[in-house]
Amino acid sequence: MALTFIMIVGTAGAGKSTLARELAEEYGAIILSSDNIRYELYGNAECQDDPAKVFGIMNARTQAFLRAGTSVIYDATNLLAKRRHEMVLSLPCGVRKECWVVHPTMRVTLRQNKHRSRQVPEAVIYRQRRMFQPPTKGEGWDVIKYRSPTDHL
Ligand SMILES: Nc1ncnc2c1ncn2[C@@H]1O[C@H](COP(=O)(O)OP(=O)(O)OP(=O)(O)O)[C@@H](O)[C@H]1O
Ligand SMILES: [Mg+2]
Repeated sequence: MALTFIMIVGTAGAGKSTLARELAEEYGAIILSSDNIRYELYGNAECQDDPAKVFGIMNARTQAFLRAGTSVIYDATNLLAKRRHEMVLSLPCGVRKECWVVHPTMRVTLRQNKHRSRQVPEAVIYRQRRMFQPPTKGEGWDVIKYRSPTDHL
């Protein structure tokens, strides 16, 4: 399979990390997750201190893995078009760029959030849904895929 950068897009509780794990097997890719980096730095995946540091580390690791020939899955909310576009521009030449969107209905998202151990306040999910800018090819993607809504029924 071609060397690929996969960015996952979705609000808290949408199912990003679940999809990331499925794709990691299929693509033979490594998962980089902002939550895991927060855990490494602070011992707590929910700590929102210093996002510049968290994403600085995540982006440096992305470069290192891709340059070593390993495909990367980039698991964070990635809700804003400008941030996604900047990320695409930073990638080494020749890397395939896939954007995967996980955007179930609000009802499903809230239910998934309720049924897991680490819950995010519902107000955060509402706020993130309002911020969400659907990805477009203009950001530089080779493909944009939506996780099928039926996967969430
Ligand atoms: N396709 C699906 N069908 C049913 N349940 C799902 C699906 N995807 C995720 N879930 C469940 O929803 C919950 C949230 O999923 P997940 O942790 O992948 O979300 P997330 O987007 O990574 O959240 P966060 O942004 O907080 O890390 C989990 O309990 C997971 O098992
Ligand atoms: Mg997650």
